[in-house]
Amino acid sequence: MEIVFPRLFFAGNRLLGERVENVSRTLGDLRGIFADVDAFSRMPQNILAYEVSSFLPEQEGTPGGLYFGITYLHPGKVGNEYFMTKGHFHANIDRAEFYWGLEGEGMLILMDQLRRVWAERVFPGSLHYIPGGVAHRMANTGNTLFSFAACWPSDAGHNYREIADHGFAARLLEVDGKPQLIGV
Ligand code: 6PG
Ligand code: NI
Repeated sequence: MEIVFPRLFFAGNRLLGERVENVSRTLGDLRGIFADVDAFSRMPQNILAYEVSSFLPEQEGTPGGLYFGITYLHPGKVGNEYFMTKGHFHANIDRAEFYWGLEGEGMLILMDQLRRVWAERVFPGSLHYIPGGVAHRMANTGNTLFSFAACWPSDAGHNYREIADHGFAARLLEVDGKPQLIGV
């Protein structure tokens, strides 16, 4: 009998194997997404904000394929705004995605095409369905590493432009020690 070895491994919660791609983003890569521009400019730009380790078994754009990734988002704040991912709509806007919490605590910030924003608390074991047409961004609301897994279609793609140009219609800020969504 032929033994088929899995092509993907977890090693200390990291992905290892063929077709794994790692991307890291420093604070400098996130220029423009935080409200407090002065606080941002006083911080070292080479701080690591997050890393994404993705298993991309299919060619980008393959209909019916799936991608899997883990994001490791470090704790920190720019002024009173939590470290967060850039955030995006999918380029194929109707493509959905699953997120689930692995370690640490955070919030999933969601915005539909009418710019209505809402948020879901993310913790180890929490599961989040992001419907098509909904932009998504994660924020680390704790003091420890926040990691989460994601599964999305290989023909989803990323549209960063919309969020880079117009942002989300609300920001997740720390108010009296607690995360609060504040409309902009
Ligand atoms: C995706 C996922 C996810 C996301 C990372 C980093 O569609 O690929 O939503 O893997 O890309 O969490 O977030 P940004 O892509 O917004 O930087
Ligand atoms: Ni996505």
